[in-house]
Amino acid sequence: MPRTRSLLELEHLSADEISSFLKLARRMQSGKPQPLLRGKRIALLFYEPSTRTRVSFEFAAKLLGTHTSIINAVSSSIEKGESLVDTGKTLQALGSDCIVVRHPSSGAPHVLARNLNVPIINAGDGMHEHPSQALLDAYTILRHKRSLKGLRITMVGDIQHSRVVRSNVHLLSKFGAQIVLCGPPELLPDYAASLAPGVKVSRHIDEAARKADVIMMLRVQKERLAGLKLDVNSYIAHYQLTPERLKLAKSDAIVMHPGPMVRGMEIQSEVADGAQSMIEEQVHNGVFVRMAILASCLGVA
Ligand code: NCD
Repeated sequence: MPRTRSLLELEHLSADEISSFLKLARRMQSGKPQPLLRGKRIALLFYEPSTRTRVSFEFAAKLLGTHTSIINAVSSSIEKGESLVDTGKTLQALGSDCIVVRHPSSGAPHVLARNLNVPIINAGDGMHEHPSQALLDAYTILRHKRSLKGLRITMVGDIQHSRVVRSNVHLLSKFGAQIVLCGPPELLPDYAASLAPGVKVSRHIDEAARKADVIMMLRVQKERLAGLKLDVNSYIAHYQLTPERLKLAKSDAIVMHPGPMVRGMEIQSEVADGAQSMIEEQVHNGVFVRMAILASCLGVA
């Protein structure tokens, strides 16, 4: 029996374990897809909306020869009140070899992993982590920069609610990147500096963008603001990435965004569609990275 494992978070993975996912993703991208998981069944259990993450896990699973089934909270028995663990047990009894799960509660994938015998892959849990996104972000950065060590990587926007930031901070700090988090106090509490070693907090995008190698922009997660009123005009004036602000970064800096992006809010179209933007490439790379995750978690690579 191949050794299977779950991918729940990056915080507790070593740099070597992370590097092995990235190496495998490079192999997935350079060769013709092999049906390494022929006949396996992959359940994609989504309690929150998703386009990129869901479709790229689905394509990745199919390229490896699996059968996939998507379970959305609104069209399944979840709407009838079935619990997360009971839904997981049902999917396991139906023969799922692996469950990819996105859930609004932090820790939901861990609950499934404790109660089931199949590997669980976290596709985003509440405000906790989004490991596959951070792996594809690192993969994309490394296609343009020699190493993560010493890179100045600036993340701007709704840091507080972003599981993408949390996973990225854990990953990048293990490789010696300098991380700058930038946003207003209501979206970026001071304690964010203690997330990992080498993290700095800045309230000014001009300061944060200066000499950056990578600028990662984030959506304001309206669905998680919980009554907080944000002055949109002031947010745009202080935190939107414009062509002028991008000029403060290194001349070979790259612009990233995990999506979904709101043009005219956190980013101007001229930047999103500009030569330094890697936003579409991130999406493209997501398929290879998720192939690597599935193959590795199911113990075939
Ligand atoms: C993000 C998410 O769902 O965490 N998107 C993604 O998966 N690429 C970020 C967001 O929703 O803003």
